[in-house]
Amino acid sequence: MSKLFSFVINLSNPNATHNLGYKLGQFCSRGTILLLFGDLGSGKTTLIQGLGAGLGVVEPISSPTFTLINEYLEGRIPLYHVDLYRLETSQVDALELDEVYCDGGEALSGVLAIEWAERIREPLQSAISLRLEHVSTGGRQATLMAYGDVQVTLLRKVVGDGLLVDEVRT
Ligand SMILES: Nc1ncnc2c1ncn2[C@@H]1O[C@H](COP(=O)(O)OP(=O)(O)O)[C@@H](O)[C@H]1O
Ligand SMILES: [Mg+2]
Repeated sequence: MSKLFSFVINLSNPNATHNLGYKLGQFCSRGTILLLFGDLGSGKTTLIQGLGAGLGVVEPISSPTFTLINEYLEGRIPLYHVDLYRLETSQVDALELDEVYCDGGEALSGVLAIEWAERIREPLQSAISLRLEHVSTGGRQATLMAYGDVQVTLLRKVVGDGLLVDEVRT
């Protein structure tokens, strides 16, 4: 049985975005894949900075502009931060991110957070999706989605049951 869990949360200021990331960082486990969708300036990096803080990363986190991936190894578990902004979908295919981090024989040893997940042709079902959008009041709206028990359990810890918007069983 697979479950879809999704909910929408309003983030009225940058702190709220950071805090959502922080909670994800506190509760996530090895193998967590977080796909971040949203325009330039929607808050993806801010959220990952919170994620890092929640994991215990002290080193400043900025988008990997000249490298494809930044690794932060000082937290509770490793954080791998990828930004696909400069890549075409075909180039992303060639990276075989899922092979590298999921199927390569060894399980993902940390948390993989990917900005510009729009560039991925077939997002992994085992990932948590988080879409950030600008709202007219100046804040952001986050839509989180997850399939699968482990991912849904994580999101429930992060947001609590109160924010459950939709859950289906298939
Ligand atoms: N919930 C929010 N409300 C208002 N501004 C926000 C919010 N979250 C982040 N920001 C601000 O948006 C700007 C862009 O954030 P950033 O994380 O760099 O976006 P992205 O990585 O998606 O391009 C920053 O100035 C950040 O402080
Ligand atoms: Mg960014």
